[in-house]
Amino acid sequence: MRHVCVVGLNWGDEGKGKIVDVLARDVDAVVRYQGGANAGHTVYIGDVKHVLHHLPMGVLHGGILAILGNGMVIEPRKLLEEVESLPEEAIAQIRISDSAHVVLPHHGAIEKVNEESASSPIGTTLRGIGPAYQDKFARTGLRMGDLVKEGFVENQLHDFLEERRQVLGGTEEGVLEAVKICTRLRDRLRNQIVDTRELLNRMHDSSGKRLLFEGAQGCMLDIDFGTYPFVTSSSPSFLGVGTGSGFSPRKVDHVVGVTKAYCTRVGEGPFPSEIHGTEAEELRQAGGEFGTTTGRPRRVGWLDLPALRFAAELNDLDSYALTKADVLNGRSTVPVVTAYRRGDEILNVYPGGTDDLSGIEPIVEEWPGWDSVDEVTMKPFMDLLEKETGIPVSILSTGKRRDEVCLFNPFTAEGELA
Ligand code: IMP
Repeated sequence: MRHVCVVGLNWGDEGKGKIVDVLARDVDAVVRYQGGANAGHTVYIGDVKHVLHHLPMGVLHGGILAILGNGMVIEPRKLLEEVESLPEEAIAQIRISDSAHVVLPHHGAIEKVNEESASSPIGTTLRGIGPAYQDKFARTGLRMGDLVKEGFVENQLHDFLEERRQVLGGTEEGVLEAVKICTRLRDRLRNQIVDTRELLNRMHDSSGKRLLFEGAQGCMLDIDFGTYPFVTSSSPSFLGVGTGSGFSPRKVDHVVGVTKAYCTRVGEGPFPSEIHGTEAEELRQAGGEFGTTTGRPRRVGWLDLPALRFAAELNDLDSYALTKADVLNGRSTVPVVTAYRRGDEILNVYPGGTDDLSGIEPIVEEWPGWDSVDEVTMKPFMDLLEKETGIPVSILSTGKRRDEVCLFNPFTAEGELA
């Protein structure tokens, strides 16, 4: 088995970074296919904490490529900060799609105004993600490939930004600053801004190279299939791989969905299994549930089986990676939402579509708890999860460090990663 995709099954922050980091040991490239600096991945190597926003976790492994796909929107200043925090060998591994879009200063400014003036704000990360995708789809965006066109930065970038400023607002200083940052980014990574679609397909054709696709955020924030309008502006589900990388999803052999043993959500929008009060505060503190990108406290709730069944279908899921079960250590039972009730109706699958989830009440069951996390202590819970949703657990995270993980040989035959 060669190509694997890791996706978040909830509303982001499932611990995907760590799972990608573990699987990246055995691949030739890790590929991001959507989103931008709204993501924040944390991984511990030894006791050192690393936080990345654009770059996939694989960049910290020697000898593999870290690819930013065309579906991404890239914030030059943030990317430069990340790049400059890495050793030269790691920087050399980065490849950026020439078709990825650039997040510009006016994108952040527009978003701030939109959020502040909205009667029902989304609670975005304010990284300019939505407005950057707006420019992309309005066909008025700037692409990374423009930055490396002969003479573009020197002769055209200022006028391009100034024209956008006149339409959308912003300051002249902001334009001058953006020109400076884009020039620095171009100078630093000039030879690494390439046609990554071509690169990925040649890696597939030649000599059995292995690819790992990394979805940022989670599928419940998918622009099409998430809790619209409380979603992000890209396609974090597995369905985004094709358009976001130019690599056919038909060639991906295994989709691993990452879910915590409970649920969290940052920002506004429906969250059927949410809990409140002291119980919620205890769980938030125990799990360290504060945003990597914004520091905001995350909303918390119990594992939500109807939402997992929906996510399993949406992502054509093969297996789960179960994370942060250790946060629930010491409980004799663990609450799990097994269905929803709406009036007299029982819903086993999250309704999706344009349903606004109003009037839904979660049905909570108590499942057997555990005192510590390993493949033996977690077996009853994992077996129940498989019985109830039809998807087995292939990876069990047992703690926050890189080495605290059990792999149940998820990728079989020649692709064993165990
Ligand atoms: P945006 O992606 O910044 O436009 O934010 C849209 C929604 O997605 C907000 O509810 C954010 O809190 C949420 N969001 C965006 N990125 C992440 C992430 O990496 N983890 C969790 N939530 C996210």
